[in-house]
Amino acid sequence: MKTIVITGGAGFIGSHVVRLFVNKYPDYRIINLDKLTYAGNLNNLKDIEDKPNYKFVKMDVCDFEAFYQLMHDEKVDGIIHLAAESHVDRSIKDPFTFAKTNVMGTLSLLQAAKLYWESLPERYEGKRFYHISTDEVYGALEFNDELFAETTPYSPHSPYSASKASSDHFVRAYHDTYGMPTIVTNCSNNYGPYQFPEKLIPLFINNIRHRKPLPVYGKGENIRDWLYVEDHARAIDVIFHEGKVAETYNIGGFNEWKNIDLIKVMIKTVDRILGNAEGTSLDLITYVTDRPGHDARYAIDSSKLKRELGWEPSLQFEEGIEKTVRWYLENQAWLDNVTSGDYQRYYDEMYTGR
Ligand code: NAD
Ligand code: DAU
Repeated sequence: MKTIVITGGAGFIGSHVVRLFVNKYPDYRIINLDKLTYAGNLNNLKDIEDKPNYKFVKMDVCDFEAFYQLMHDEKVDGIIHLAAESHVDRSIKDPFTFAKTNVMGTLSLLQAAKLYWESLPERYEGKRFYHISTDEVYGALEFNDELFAETTPYSPHSPYSASKASSDHFVRAYHDTYGMPTIVTNCSNNYGPYQFPEKLIPLFINNIRHRKPLPVYGKGENIRDWLYVEDHARAIDVIFHEGKVAETYNIGGFNEWKNIDLIKVMIKTVDRILGNAEGTSLDLITYVTDRPGHDARYAIDSSKLKRELGWEPSLQFEEGIEKTVRWYLENQAWLDNVTSGDYQRYYDEMYTGR
């Protein structure tokens, strides 16, 4: 039997990974370790919380001693590390929290895992530290056909991507220096249910529904490469089990969208589902001051993952966005619950005076 800690399991992507592992591997013990920041919500996991192979532990990834104790008490074999501060705009306002959680938190987990695994007779045999990272570490592409490959040099521009880049380097250093069996993956923009509504897709679906302005940064011409979150969770499963130690894999959907075009698809879809005439909500588009250091374009080449491990995205974007819009429209209670007073204050601060 394997015991696996999934950090950040109460967040957006983490909750999909926890659900997949708990349902697919009844013989594993899955420990969801999460501090429950504003972005963590145990309501995301109501359907699996009573399963016998699932356990939740409230813990800060920066708490080295508590994590070492957990590794020891639970005899942890594998770590899938998703916990992070994840929102670029917040990192611009509060970079220290990002350095603390994303850099020091990752280092703390690595060092505790090292001490525990090196104390065992089998040492690193059968163990794995899998770090989930982002394509933003590669910087920005021009508006051409180039894609980020695993060999693209790091060039982060925001405090968020700088903190993720730093944590990726620490993970690789633990392999190269101590022989820890690590893997890093860099994924493109995810979308789907349970994403905190500060991110483009859930924020805009909710705003369209409530006829609130849609704050488009700059000219809306930036490009992102969108992947349905359950496809990312499937990739994590394949890579955790079959990925080669010390390798990096890019994960992406080959699905590039200019922001403004994606926003128009969301408007069309929400209007259709709500029974509004086509184009009703186009007047909500409001161009606002650009995000500082806004990366022009991200686009991932995930052909290595397809070639070596056979993974590819299963969902067409049209189907994914339809499912996603319907989910947010049908789960207003979830949205109301997570958009607490604190979040509302942050949102008002972000957009007043812009
Ligand atoms: P999220 O913000 O939705 O969730 C983050 C989770 O981490 C929350 O449950 C939060 O409570 C927890 N957390 C934060 N600080 C913590 C701490 N100090 N200790 C313990 N738990 C803490 O994030 P997400 O969008 O699900 O992203 C998950 C991971 O995937 C992150 O590492 C992110 O960098 C990476 N990633 C995200 C995307 C994306 O499009 N969302 C794409 C590529 C990579
Ligand atoms: O590429 C992977 C990354 O994708 C992850 O590592 C991050 O954790 C995740 O947050 C996401 O980062 P982005 O900055 O690309 O996502 P966000 O949803 O914040 O923005 C998507 C695009 O939409 C980006 O070009 C900025 C723009 N935008 C965003 C918001 C919130 C707007 O125009 N208006 C908005 O209000």
